[in-house]
Amino acid sequence: MCGIMGYSGARPPLPILLSGLERLEYRGYDSSGVAFFDDSDEIHVIRTTGKISALKDRVGKEEGHPGSAIGHIRWATHGAATVQNAHPHQSGPIVLVHNGIVENEQALKEELRREGVRFDSDTDTEVLAHLVSSAYRAGSDFPSSVQAALSRVEGSYALAIISRDHPSDLVVVRQGAPLLIGVGEGEAFAASDIPAFLHFTRQVYSMKNGEIAFIRHGSVKVGKLLDPPSEWKTPEFSTVSWDPFFAEKGTYRHFMEKEIFEGSRAVMDTFSGRIVGDRALPELLEALGERPGSITMVACGTSWHAALLGRLFIEAATGIPVSVEIASEFRYRPILSSREGWIVGISQSGETADTLGAIEAARKTGYKTLGITNVPGSTMERESGACLLTHAGPEIGVASTKAFQAQVAILLLMSLALSPGHVSMERIESLLRVPVRLESFLESMVSERFDPVIDRIRQSTLVLFAGRGLDYPLSLEGALKFKEITYRPADGYPSGELKHGPIALVEPGVTIVAPMIDSSLRTKEVSNLREIRARGGYVIALGPDIEESQRGVWYDDKVDLPHESASTGIFQAAAVLQYLAYRVAVMLGNDVDQPRNLAKSVTVE
Ligand code: F6R
Repeated sequence: MCGIMGYSGARPPLPILLSGLERLEYRGYDSSGVAFFDDSDEIHVIRTTGKISALKDRVGKEEGHPGSAIGHIRWATHGAATVQNAHPHQSGPIVLVHNGIVENEQALKEELRREGVRFDSDTDTEVLAHLVSSAYRAGSDFPSSVQAALSRVEGSYALAIISRDHPSDLVVVRQGAPLLIGVGEGEAFAASDIPAFLHFTRQVYSMKNGEIAFIRHGSVKVGKLLDPPSEWKTPEFSTVSWDPFFAEKGTYRHFMEKEIFEGSRAVMDTFSGRIVGDRALPELLEALGERPGSITMVACGTSWHAALLGRLFIEAATGIPVSVEIASEFRYRPILSSREGWIVGISQSGETADTLGAIEAARKTGYKTLGITNVPGSTMERESGACLLTHAGPEIGVASTKAFQAQVAILLLMSLALSPGHVSMERIESLLRVPVRLESFLESMVSERFDPVIDRIRQSTLVLFAGRGLDYPLSLEGALKFKEITYRPADGYPSGELKHGPIALVEPGVTIVAPMIDSSLRTKEVSNLREIRARGGYVIALGPDIEESQRGVWYDDKVDLPHESASTGIFQAAAVLQYLAYRVAVMLGNDVDQPRNLAKSVTVE
């Protein structure tokens, strides 16, 4: 949901901003813009619709004068994706970029209009520019005018602001939307996400909500929005271990493709160091005390699908009842208080507004809170009672792939951690084999062996994904991945539900993709697939041990998985479903890494 970036230092800022914004493009790509100083200390603003490539064309050879500069990439919320609505927004000497929402926009706009302000855009952001500018013109210094303006604003924001009168200075603020500061030799960066400046520094400070920072070249002072600037202090920077390589496509055509094939590394890194003897995640119970009486998991989208798998692992291994909730629904229902309960939020970004809201709503009624996120320093990590990091590395493709694999991995570990008795070495060893098995499977996945099924799927009028047990969340995930990057009709169902309605959709031209990892339910699944075939549906089975002799009996085509443990099979099947969606979307010529209408991190409700 929009990405912002700021720079202050002795280098020409535009190449730095453009490379950073490119790495933030997964957050939005409706429009973009930069503001920078020229040799005469005049501010220039360049804005355009479309992606960063369009902005690069507009910027041309211009590099900007050393000093401060800001940039933005937009996912439209208030107002269409037009040049006028693109950031930065300027009011007199003040120019700013914003990620978030001003909730009292209307009241502030009316007040400013009464004072004679004319609005040039439909955005809520422009209100902020006018407010800061009017405080500044009334005599406050630059950082204090930002504080004065924001004292009137309700909502969430990450802001980067420059002022015509201070060409080296940058003021940034975080309130409810992510913002990180990176510091290098005589220069500093601020951005919505670490990959934006990972090529320049690994020294990072993750701002807290309600913090403001004043940056001049390598000097960074941070304070609370209410504290006077004289009390602001240099923050403690920590070194991030993320490899800049993660944020590059390398030899792959798309980030999504690269990230599918990084799935085994994501699982390996997530497991690494997390099993000590026969205990997994010892830090979990140390942080949260006793085993919970019940667990409620909240998440959105792909993370919700990982949670559905997690429920199956945890209930089977621990006997603890687990419910799984869509965060945006759960947070507005009456939440029954549970003193022995844990609320577990799962979020790749750690910034999804509904998931954070759901955790907070449950915390207020007495739940202990646990976050599972992929982003160190994210709001989820900082604000949950305890946090488990997945170690997938930065995920750039908008469609989540390796982060899903890492979430599934950590949930498997959680099921071991909460097991009441001794966990057998056999079980642990079998789990530790998963990343290696997945790796060798991924190596075999690049072959043309998928072409016939991909062709069939591409020509289908509708693709349904259906499974039972472990295969039901996998079906939901397969359908979501397929919809979001192919833009073709698809849906996921529990196979037993098909005959309660969806089977009416089945006719020649409809394809059913059936993951079949859960051997305990295979006989029942086969019966459901026979029912589909009897009505003209084309069945593609995906799993181990699918007998060739059954081709034409209960399935039409198949993707074989090796005969492995169910735990390994889940990751392999997920990789195939991701890859099928990817290949079809590429054939259709779609923008796979940045599918239409989507943004990676959904920081608004
Ligand atoms: C789908 C996808 C989304 C996210 C969802 C939650 O491929 O990426 O459905 O899973 O927006 O995002 P996080 O996990 O960041 O909370």
